[in-house]
Amino acid sequence: MTSIARAIRDVLLTAEPAAKVRAARSVARAWRRGDLLHVFDVPMPESPARPTRPELLPPNRMPKRGRGGSERGRIALLHALAHIEFAAIDLAFDMAGRFGDRSARSFVDDWIGVGADEAMHFAILDRRLRTLGCAYGDLPAHAGLWEAAAKTAHDPLARLAVVPMVLEARGLDVTPTTVARFDAAGDHASARILLRIYTDEIRHVSVGTTWFKHGCAEAALDPAEHWRALISAHFRGLLKPPFNDSARASAGLTREYYGALAEA
Ligand SMILES: [Fe+2]
Ligand SMILES: [Fe+2]
Repeated sequence: MTSIARAIRDVLLTAEPAAKVRAARSVARAWRRGDLLHVFDVPMPESPARPTRPELLPPNRMPKRGRGGSERGRIALLHALAHIEFAAIDLAFDMAGRFGDRSARSFVDDWIGVGADEAMHFAILDRRLRTLGCAYGDLPAHAGLWEAAAKTAHDPLARLAVVPMVLEARGLDVTPTTVARFDAAGDHASARILLRIYTDEIRHVSVGTTWFKHGCAEAALDPAEHWRALISAHFRGLLKPPFNDSARASAGLTREYYGALAEA
């Protein structure tokens, strides 16, 4: 029987998108069935393998996406979201593989489950893109989505603070507007997909917040205070309002955390 760490490492080192989706789903299934040892015998790679396409560009060289009015603009937006979901597969598996050895088994359960969700999100967006005559890889995409992971590879609380509680929470803020824009353009199929992803993402933020609070309790740290310290140390961007306070709160991420930082 192989270990969960080796299985996760294989997901991270699989470059080709369809193969990564298959690997992610099959590891999640095997873990659920008890077919993988709860053993961490290999380190995680510093960064995951990347497919040859899409071409990765620094954010300032990305073509302007527009606001989703034209079909081209909507395709570009779906492509950007597919890229984020693709990176999210690696982020979730890395969370389980890198920090699972010092955590409860349910930590691994949760993040493998998130990783399987992200693989599904990527797959349905890619399928939607293909229906619209495009596919993941056809357009350039943001470089640097792994940056936040690299900067927080030393500390599970820093990783939880930045990845689910800032980056994924940001998705909750912007998705309702994006859904409305797709609906207004008559693209209800894409809107439905984004709404389904949104529901899952509330759960992902909740998983992140729950483990963050758990880790803070173990270390006798005030979670909101410690979160703000970690964000100041490890997150370069600003926390941009408007916030989706109700979705954030239903994921356990209350204004107590981000209110002060956002207004600063
Ligand atoms: Fe996702
Ligand atoms: Fe997610």
